Amino acid sequence: MMLKYFDLQRYTAQHREQLQAAVSRVVDSGWYLLGNEVKAFENAYAQYIGTAHCVACGNGLDALSLIFKAYMERGLLHPGDEVLVPANTYIASIISITSSGLMPVLVEPHLDTFQIDAQQMVKHVGPRTKALLIVHLYGKCAFTNELLSLCSEHELLVIEDNAQAHGCLWNDKRTGSVGHAAAHSFYPGKNLGALGDAGGVTTNDEVLVGIIRAIANYGSNKKYVFQYVGQNSRMDEVQAAVLSEKLKWLDQDNQRRTLLPNIM
Ligand SMILES: Cc1ncc(COP(=O)(O)O)c(C=O)c1O
Repeated sequence: MMLKYFDLQRYTAQHREQLQAAVSRVVDSGWYLLGNEVKAFENAYAQYIGTAHCVACGNGLDALSLIFKAYMERGLLHPGDEVLVPANTYIASIISITSSGLMPVLVEPHLDTFQIDAQQMVKHVGPRTKALLIVHLYGKCAFTNELLSLCSEHELLVIEDNAQAHGCLWNDKRTGSVGHAAAHSFYPGKNLGALGDAGGVTTNDEVLVGIIRAIANYGSNKKYVFQYVGQNSRMDEVQAAVLSEKLKWLDQDNQRRTLLPNIM
């Protein structure tokens, strides 16, 4: 018999009743997009992560791209600017940079942790380096004091890719609340996973939130006014209802996962 490392079907079945009730609530409501379920999840997740805001969106890749595009609209990033990023991240981190017209600069990991190495990173900082996309890989926090002080010394924007680290702590803060903005994927197999695609951005930056909400809504914050080059990236009400339920069990689920053999 083959034992699965993580059996999503079995895990989901444990919570079948609560998840079915959440889905039925949305089915019966007659409201399927941009409604109260999304608002409730945004509030609950922002509170969990420890930021003033959460913006729900279609998936983790969109969450990352929306952050870069919003910083460009705001004039804090410009086409061709360099973004430092771990070389061993998932391809989505890199695509979010290139698809926004920015230049990824790949940084090798520390061989003890497989997280981005501050000493390697600093070798790549040049006049066009404007941001670090730090990726908390394998459920672990990638921040170090050295890394954060290098970022402030070089005045880099710090954007977190928290797709693999929901609930992870850096001192007394959660990852996703430490940098200027953070992207989260709620792909089904993630620590906090939807029953389909979903993503979100957390930040304390209210101006950034306004631009991200507009870009994700065809570039518009006001009916028939299209201020930015937009896209369509929405979280469904069904996924928001499911995620609000699953958020209640996240810490407990993470604790169970950490009981598994730890190889890093
Ligand atoms: C590190 C990292 N960034 C981004 C993503 C992209 O998320 P999504 O598949 O929701 O677009 C993933 C996961 O797939 C990931 O592991």
